[in-house]
Amino acid sequence: MTTEFLSADDIAHVRTSFDRIWSGARRLSDVFYEHLFEAVPEVRPMFRGDIEEQKRKFIGTLAVIVGSLENPAVLLPAAEKLAQQHVDYGVTPLHYSVVGTVLLASLARCLDGHWTPEVADAWTKAYRVLTAHMIATAYA
Ligand code: HEM
Repeated sequence: MTTEFLSADDIAHVRTSFDRIWSGARRLSDVFYEHLFEAVPEVRPMFRGDIEEQKRKFIGTLAVIVGSLENPAVLLPAAEKLAQQHVDYGVTPLHYSVVGTVLLASLARCLDGHWTPEVADAWTKAYRVLTAHMIATAYA
């Protein structure tokens, strides 16, 4: 993985759009988990803890990721650790793709008219690049 991991424009699109929904981040996490458990009900039993707590952790981690996109030296080791934990939860590489689809759809719904093609491209790229790294390191 190179340090040139996303363009400055991509980072700006991800950051600006995330800032836009930050005040309503609770809604994003509600939409995300509802959509996830509807789309792939078989993953529901993997979540053993309090789902409200999980929503807060997920959104909080997303905020940290968005905040460190231009700092791969910090972001990537943290992402590797998170991916390793996910192996223990029973998460497989295929799950990352369905979760990505659900996350992007949830962002689109919460951002509404602000989900422009540029914003969609930037989030798609960010999710793909980051999770490709997570998968490559955790399932090597
Ligand atoms: C970039 C992608 C992802 C991020 C940022 C993320 C974030 C998180 C965070 C922050 C936690 C809590 C960890 C802790 O308690 O310390 C977590 C737990 C978990 N995640 Fe993810 N996750 C991602 C991908 C996935 C995928 C693809 C799945 C597959 C279904 C998944 C399923 C789970 C499960 C089952 C738990 C444990 C929940 C529990 O213990 O109740 N995650 N995730």
